[in-house]
Amino acid sequence: MNNHLHIHNLTKYYVKQLGWLKQQRICALDAISFTVKQGETIAVIGETGSGKSTLIKLIAGIETPHAGTITLNGLQLKPYDYASRCCHIRMIFQDGLASLDPQRTIGQQLLEPLWFNTRWTVTEQREYVLNTLQKVGLLPEHFDFYPHMLASGQLARVSIARAILLNPQVIVADEALGALDPSIRAQIINLLIDLKEEMGVTLVFASHSPEIVRHLADKILVLHHGKMIEFDTTTTLITNPQQSLTRSLLHTGNLTI
Ligand SMILES: Nc1ncnc2c1ncn2[C@@H]1O[C@H](COP(=O)(O)OP(=O)(O)O)[C@@H](O)[C@H]1O
Ligand SMILES: [Mg+2]
Repeated sequence: MNNHLHIHNLTKYYVKQLGWLKQQRICALDAISFTVKQGETIAVIGETGSGKSTLIKLIAGIETPHAGTITLNGLQLKPYDYASRCCHIRMIFQDGLASLDPQRTIGQQLLEPLWFNTRWTVTEQREYVLNTLQKVGLLPEHFDFYPHMLASGQLARVSIARAILLNPQVIVADEALGALDPSIRAQIINLLIDLKEEMGVTLVFASHSPEIVRHLADKILVLHHGKMIEFDTTTTLITNPQQSLTRSLLHTGNLTI
């Protein structure tokens, strides 16, 4: 399955209001095409405003493209087709606390996608959630915790649990780990590497951290003003980038972990 996730000509505009009658059309993504193999991890990098979040949102189905297609295993994903998308493509949310309901326990919130998407009994669903908590390094007790009772690293684990729950083929993430402390971030990166190995899931993530990109990505896609200016293996782009922008994006910051 080499054409696992195929993005073709993906284009998105935004209209920016510049006053009463003046509008400016911004091309956030300009005819992007690339193919991802099953199980590959792709890092999307670029300066602020280069279109990283737009690309992630389009793949997640949160936004609709003006042109272009997204094909998963030969089937084109239609905009607004949440029923098929929510099982196949899941998102790791950036801010664990803000994306969770403060009034309901972690367990209740993890059970929700199972009510809608499986025909399992209540006991089976509970078992599955407890199993998933264990997979992401949380304890059975956390099932009954409310979001505010968890530390940031544990919340990141809950976000990952939510993403892997329905055994998706693709997981997307937008700057999901950037805000974590370095030591916790390293643990979460290792967890993601282990889970990817175990599940064979494809990961497409946007990041501005060279350190996260180097540790996680098989390939790197470089965006500049909505255009894809480079797409190659992480090793190639670190050792021999064709664009000076790629070099500066990958070589800034502290690369130790
Ligand atoms: N909802 C929106 N309305 C108007 N312009 C937007 C919106 N979202 C993004 N943009 C514009 O699209 C471009 C790409 O944004 P974005 O995908 O968020 O970039 P990045 O994540 O790389 O910082 C930017 O110029 C941004 O200002
Ligand atoms: Mg962004």
